[in-house]
Amino acid sequence: MRALILIGFVLCVPALFTTMKTMATAQNAAPTTTLDNLQAAYNGESNAHARYLAFAQKADTEDYGKVASLFRAAARAEEIHAGNHAVVIKKLGGTPLAKVETPVVKSTAENLEAAIKGESYERDTMYPQFLKQARAEHNRDAVETFNFAKTAEAEHARLYTTALNNLADMRGTGQTYYVCTVCGYTTTNLDFAKCISCFSPKHKYQAVS
Ligand SMILES: [Fe+2]
Ligand SMILES: [Fe+2]
Repeated sequence: MRALILIGFVLCVPALFTTMKTMATAQNAAPTTTLDNLQAAYNGESNAHARYLAFAQKADTEDYGKVASLFRAAARAEEIHAGNHAVVIKKLGGTPLAKVETPVVKSTAENLEAAIKGESYERDTMYPQFLKQARAEHNRDAVETFNFAKTAEAEHARLYTTALNNLADMRGTGQTYYVCTVCGYTTTNLDFAKCISCFSPKHKYQAVS
């Protein structure tokens, strides 16, 4: 009888481990939350900020002064997005964490292509998914910060595409861009009373060149 109990115990232990392992895997596969998405967005914006500053330097060395200005303006916008995401992360009890990688810098034309790819992904895939989740969680702060970023990224993609298509005209001295310090919207034209994205007064815009 004792031998039978011992055999039963020996057979049960591996099964128990398998069950525990399955439970742990299920936990790891838990759906992402808005806090996870905010951290991912914070990391993405922090990296974009560093990448665009490096691209601006490269554009200056290649005499594309106007592209350099655009990269600096977009870098400022990404910094604003990261800051906005960080506020919401802290509100949810988290600590904003970013792993800023050394940017891969190529020619200005290639850097513009990479930037268009990144902005398009954020505009079409990343932020729409994060917004869906934030709405499902009824997190209005997250919806707002994701919306501000998505609108600005769409404009960045447009500005980068125009720059790439007219690269020969982007040489020489820099150009002044205006960045909304509330939402990061980026424009060359201050012909409006309120920010078209967040409706802040015009004086919230900062000149970057
Ligand atoms: Fe952007
Ligand atoms: Fe704004």
